[in-house]
Amino acid sequence: MKLILLLALILSAQAYAQDGNKNQSGSKYQESHEQEDGKHGDGHKHKGGMMQGDEHGHEDGENGDSHGYGGEHGGGDHGQEGGKHGDSHGDEGDEHDGGSHGHEGGSGHGHGPKLDKTSLKQFFEPLPESIIDVQENAALIKLGKKLYLDPRLSVNDKISCNSCHGLNNYGVDNEPTSPGHEGKRGGRNSPTTMNAALHIAQFWDGRASDVEEQALGPILNPVEMGMPNKGAVVQKVQAIDEYQALFAEAFSESKHPFNYNNIGVAIGAFERTLLTPSRFDDFLNGDEDALNKSEKKGLKKFMRMGCTNCHNGVAIGGNSYKKIGLVESYETEDMGRYEVTGLESDKKVFKVPSLRNITKTAPYFHDGSVETLDEAIQLMAKHQLGRDHVGHGMVRDIKAFLGSLTGKDQQQ
Ligand code: HEC
Ligand code: HEC
Repeated sequence: MKLILLLALILSAQAYAQDGNKNQSGSKYQESHEQEDGKHGDGHKHKGGMMQGDEHGHEDGENGDSHGYGGEHGGGDHGQEGGKHGDSHGDEGDEHDGGSHGHEGGSGHGHGPKLDKTSLKQFFEPLPESIIDVQENAALIKLGKKLYLDPRLSVNDKISCNSCHGLNNYGVDNEPTSPGHEGKRGGRNSPTTMNAALHIAQFWDGRASDVEEQALGPILNPVEMGMPNKGAVVQKVQAIDEYQALFAEAFSESKHPFNYNNIGVAIGAFERTLLTPSRFDDFLNGDEDALNKSEKKGLKKFMRMGCTNCHNGVAIGGNSYKKIGLVESYETEDMGRYEVTGLESDKKVFKVPSLRNITKTAPYFHDGSVETLDEAIQLMAKHQLGRDHVGHGMVRDIKAFLGSLTGKDQQQ
């Protein structure tokens, strides 16, 4: 009897594991949407695909503090490398970089982190080939792309998703804040849509759970595309001839393919194709020559300084929420995630941005107030890590490394 029970247990565990794999591959994508009739439940939570093999639990739920060290937003989670000032001591000839010489028993004596596979894996993960089955969802993706580029989704036929998230411009508009219809601006910087589907949630404050849900926001947002209500959007789209066949094909199993939710499902499916493999992915996949010397030096510094406390995982960010001004207070009116959760501890907490394509997506920070990457790196060192004086060499090297995160296909 016991034996049979045991056998049954093993079998069911196996079945479970296989099931899990299937979900991760994203092949069930379309199916799950249709079943739920677009309720955005769990159906397309196949983030697993990119966080796969994730020993560190990036996805550990909401304020997921990846890698498990440090408290959530407490003051203590910097410097996992054993000492927050661990960078000094001029390894590789950077004597002038560190203002602070390891007073806290930093580990920065000479060697620093190694760039071997095991150390890298601790922090980073290469982009997966794909997070949506492109063949199976071809019609849906095609429709989504058309909607993404279509200004007719806005009240005055002038603004599309692409106006603020240019597909030929690394998914951004390079404006501090974005002019919507009537030129009105919101208070936040347009983040890139490239790789955004990999994030734990959408928006600077994570208020939308995925790209499908997110896409429905801007169309009705009065300072963005300004449509008055859902019904008006559906009516407008439905009246456009070209969309008849596109919706019918994309939602072939549905009797009423035209509804507001499906617009988000389609745009979201398209956004899931916006991955930008970079030289850093080649490097993580074993091509040691994919990064040059200064980029490797920068990568070491990025790790040793503790940038990887927050910018880690497959998107080098995008997988946790952290306070801006964690160590040294940062001035901003924007209360970030507090406005979503109402929790005192979420004041000035934002989703940690992905650093992929970062050299191309200036200006920086939630309000677009930081013009250059040099300045962004310095502010991060100071406010997030308590490093007041980072030298020119340090900034230069880290910036060089960040350049290796630019999508290869997009580079002109
Ligand atoms: C007028 C400019 C504008 C338009 C038009 C616009 N967006 Fe955005 N988008 C923004 C801004 C600003 C934010 C950040 C807002 C926030 O976090 O509160 C944002 C956030 C996003 C995000 C979240 C990315 C992340 O890293 O969190 C995605 C995805 C996105 N937009 C996709 C779209 C799609 C799809 C459309 C079309 C349906 C669209 N946007 C239309 C300006 C725009
Ligand atoms: C404690 C967590 C944390 C650490 C450590 C950290 N960052 Fe950040 N980083 C953030 C958060 C949160 C933001 C968003 C800040 C905002 O917009 O207000 C951010 C934003 C950035 C940006 C701007 C991104 C954009 O799209 O606007 C860059 C560049 C950046 N960080 C680089 C670094 C570098 C380089 C280091 C190491 C020197 C570092 N960060 C360390 C949490 C962190």
